[in-house]
Amino acid sequence: MEEQSLRLAVYPGTFDPLTNGHISLVRRGLDVFDRIVLAIARDTYKKPLFSLQERKEMAQEAFAGNPGVVVETFSGLLVDYVDWCGAKVILRGLRANSDFEYEFQMALMNRRLKRDIHTMFMMTDYKWLFTSSSIIKQTAEAGGDVQGLVPDIVWQQLKIRYGIQNHVS
Ligand code: COA
Repeated sequence: MEEQSLRLAVYPGTFDPLTNGHISLVRRGLDVFDRIVLAIARDTYKKPLFSLQERKEMAQEAFAGNPGVVVETFSGLLVDYVDWCGAKVILRGLRANSDFEYEFQMALMNRRLKRDIHTMFMMTDYKWLFTSSSIIKQTAEAGGDVQGLVPDIVWQQLKIRYGIQNHVS
């Protein structure tokens, strides 16, 4: 899919929804890679709030005008998708110690499946250490204001989903 010379990474996840933490990681990833494919998983053990198409459209809007980012969806094995893209690197973010065990398991499983595909971790910026898609959904569901933690398009969609009125701040 891509030219050999392009430094390409695939950043996979459920992105239900995309948060500013994810965006920060992609931006920093672009200091290292020429292009990042934000790969939204169709098959996930999670029960997503937003459909695959909705997650894709929100991410596309959030990265509109950034030619270094391509938003795609995938199903099946991640390593097969990464291979199909012509990439060698899976990019993942680490927020805290608690992420490590799960990420380590995934990275080793992916390596067992395809040895020539490598997982690279970047530390999440300290500003986003406490965020996750779940905590953002929980907060919004209870009527909390998560503006500033997610791209504007995501905040608009969360407000619609949870019937949140405009906040006076
Ligand atoms: N800033 C803020 N939050 C972050 C973050 C960052 N930089 N990095 C991760 N997170 C959060 C996410 O919001 C998410 O929160 P949630 O659990 O509340 O939803 C959580 O950390 C990690 O989830 P995410 O990054 O979406 O990844 P995931 O664990 O949901 O995705 C896949 C896992 C899709 C990559 C994995 O299941 C997969 O590869 N599936 C394909 C099937 C496969 O190949 N399986 C075998 C390989 S193990």
